[in-house]
Amino acid sequence: MSIVYENGVFTLQTAHSTYQMKISEHGHLLHLYYGSRISDADVSYLIPRVVRSHESNPAEAGEDRVYSLCAYPQEFSSNDAGDYRVPSIELINPDGSYAFVGKYRTHTIYHGKYRLSTLPTLFARQNENADTLEIVLEDEVTHVSVKLLYSTFYEKDIITRSAILYNSSEGEIRLQRLMSASLDFMTCDYDMIDFFGHHYLERQTDRHPLTHGINEIGSFRGASGHFHNPFVILCDHNTDEDRGNAYGFCLMYSGNFVFDAEVDGYSQTRVAMGIHPKQFEFKLAKGETFEAPEVAMAYSADGLSELSHRYHDIFRENACDSKFVSAQRPILINSWEPFYFSFDSEKLIRTAESAKALGVELFVLDDGWFGTRNDGRSGLGDWVANEQKLPGGIPALADKIHQMGMKFGLWFEPEMVNEDSDLYRAHPDWVLRVPNRAPSRSRHQLCLDLSRPDVCAHLIQAVNDVLDAGGVDYVKWDYNRYVCDVYSQYYPANRQGEIYHRYILGLYKILDGIIKTHPHILFEGCSGGGGRFDGAMLTYFPQIWCSDNTDAISRLTIQYGTSFAYPVCTMGAHISACPTKKTKRTVPFKTRAVTAMHGTFGYELDPAKMSEEEIDECSEYTTFYKKHRVLIAYGDYYRLSSPYDDSIFTAWQFVSKDRGQSLVCAVTQDISILDRNCYIHLRGLESDSLYEIPQTGQTLSGAALQNIGILLPHTQPQYNAFIFEIKKLNTKTI
Ligand code: DGJ
Repeated sequence: MSIVYENGVFTLQTAHSTYQMKISEHGHLLHLYYGSRISDADVSYLIPRVVRSHESNPAEAGEDRVYSLCAYPQEFSSNDAGDYRVPSIELINPDGSYAFVGKYRTHTIYHGKYRLSTLPTLFARQNENADTLEIVLEDEVTHVSVKLLYSTFYEKDIITRSAILYNSSEGEIRLQRLMSASLDFMTCDYDMIDFFGHHYLERQTDRHPLTHGINEIGSFRGASGHFHNPFVILCDHNTDEDRGNAYGFCLMYSGNFVFDAEVDGYSQTRVAMGIHPKQFEFKLAKGETFEAPEVAMAYSADGLSELSHRYHDIFRENACDSKFVSAQRPILINSWEPFYFSFDSEKLIRTAESAKALGVELFVLDDGWFGTRNDGRSGLGDWVANEQKLPGGIPALADKIHQMGMKFGLWFEPEMVNEDSDLYRAHPDWVLRVPNRAPSRSRHQLCLDLSRPDVCAHLIQAVNDVLDAGGVDYVKWDYNRYVCDVYSQYYPANRQGEIYHRYILGLYKILDGIIKTHPHILFEGCSGGGGRFDGAMLTYFPQIWCSDNTDAISRLTIQYGTSFAYPVCTMGAHISACPTKKTKRTVPFKTRAVTAMHGTFGYELDPAKMSEEEIDECSEYTTFYKKHRVLIAYGDYYRLSSPYDDSIFTAWQFVSKDRGQSLVCAVTQDISILDRNCYIHLRGLESDSLYEIPQTGQTLSGAALQNIGILLPHTQPQYNAFIFEIKKLNTKTI
């Protein structure tokens, strides 16, 4: 067992990390330690025994002025009981009080991984070395209790956490906040790395030292969002890719979230992560429960690359049980950027035929194939093929594509509706909108009320009808506006604080009802680009469209930021036409290809507009990608340089798990490359092995490649790209 309970101390071990908690003399659960692996049975000496004047002491502490909930590190903090930091829980008891003081009641340790009944979680595969600890904390007065859940993935160095609230009180409680994870560090010398952005520029990397007060990121848009990602790193100030302590916190949830790192007046740090408490209030009758989403935590003593490897491995192996997770992903062409809404069967078939010459394996028909959807203003919600554009409907088109030897894919945006649609005309009460107020539109659409069981049932049926008619091998699931006007006509006025979360619960039910019942279909997530790229979505979607910005240079920072938590095999990336729509930038095809290889690789252009030379050139990139796609998807990934710190070039590398093969990619961003000696320092190779590099004609040791590096050619213009294949020879260096 990797989890031990001894003398009131819980110790969770993974291969390289230790997590320790202790039941205090008064029954509070104290957080002791999370960090490099240690074998000590109890490290509570790290809590100083000092009187903090002006702090309150719980009644049971009597004359002990040292014992203060605000100064002691808590594992799950109390509320309205003298801990003034961001709380783990906020609720209103049946008697109107706000107090909750969780004290240890009982615990269980068992082999395997816990699951939640309403929310997606990571899971343990057969024979996986995973153990679980459940600790029940109970308020002695109200009897409201919280079960804290912990699972260790031993070899993968991941610890997951969640919490379930039980209303065992005598009446109804109003839950206003329940953090999934909260832990207290005794010091504050950390940098916070988080990933901000907007549509067209998702997951930009931000790194800054923690300041006193609350360092907070989050989303209040009804989705994890473009603006902040529910993944945050805390690390030492000098941590870099190879060295230093780093902690990751990844929330497995696709709705409103908050991450707080509060540095208090004693320069201690409390981390709390969970559902955003804004406009959140869940009523729980006696006997009812509430589950908080899971947080996947990782610790690395060896810098950020190692931290990323931990997340990449867990997301590749323990998030999604689709057979496509470990399969070679098809190279696709998507109709959106080349045609938007203006296409018909003939045009699509012509495009598919010419895409074959590019080596494409999957043809995807994007928005515009259904109802009266000829622009963004109408038809959304009516999932019946437009026979004027597509005679014979989807099966007929799919059939033709299949005859060409390609797979066929289709776009849906089930969560939305245009007012000009049959669905809205039949069910105007099925959208989120505040009574007596005109709803806000975004992209001319309204958001369906997924908190309603009837809406969920309808959507499952409507999408499944199309899929069950046959012919569809791939689905792109889009979501193109944030919710607001959050009010459901299905629920009474005093339950409207539940709607944000009930929407997400409805979404997961729909995904279960569609994705899990079609295991032969590859599903790709999307949200106006990468607006819902999170761990929970990865439990359903083996891949997610990373951004609507297909400019190769913009993609450098987008994909760099995404890579800190999410593996390259999950990132949808395509070659598109230049100048690109948003940035108006033109870069060589090779550069577009190399950045699309930092993902699932595909095309989003009209091959009819390409010259024969361009088709030949691109088909070589496709062939090259096919040769290396297993290495790219499942190898260890290294960020060799940052697109921010070294804006001359950005480089990254894939290394096979056996260290025998590697691929190095670089894109030059600045013309100063012309006169500067630039070396790419490789990583992850065996120092004393020899490696062959066909592109340079060299044979070099792993040590040379890592310490001296590969010299980038001098005479290349801006926005050029390079690829180097690295293959281990059977000889060692002396
Ligand atoms: C937003 C997506 O990100 C695009 O790729 C495309 O599918 C459009 N929606 C279609 O409306």
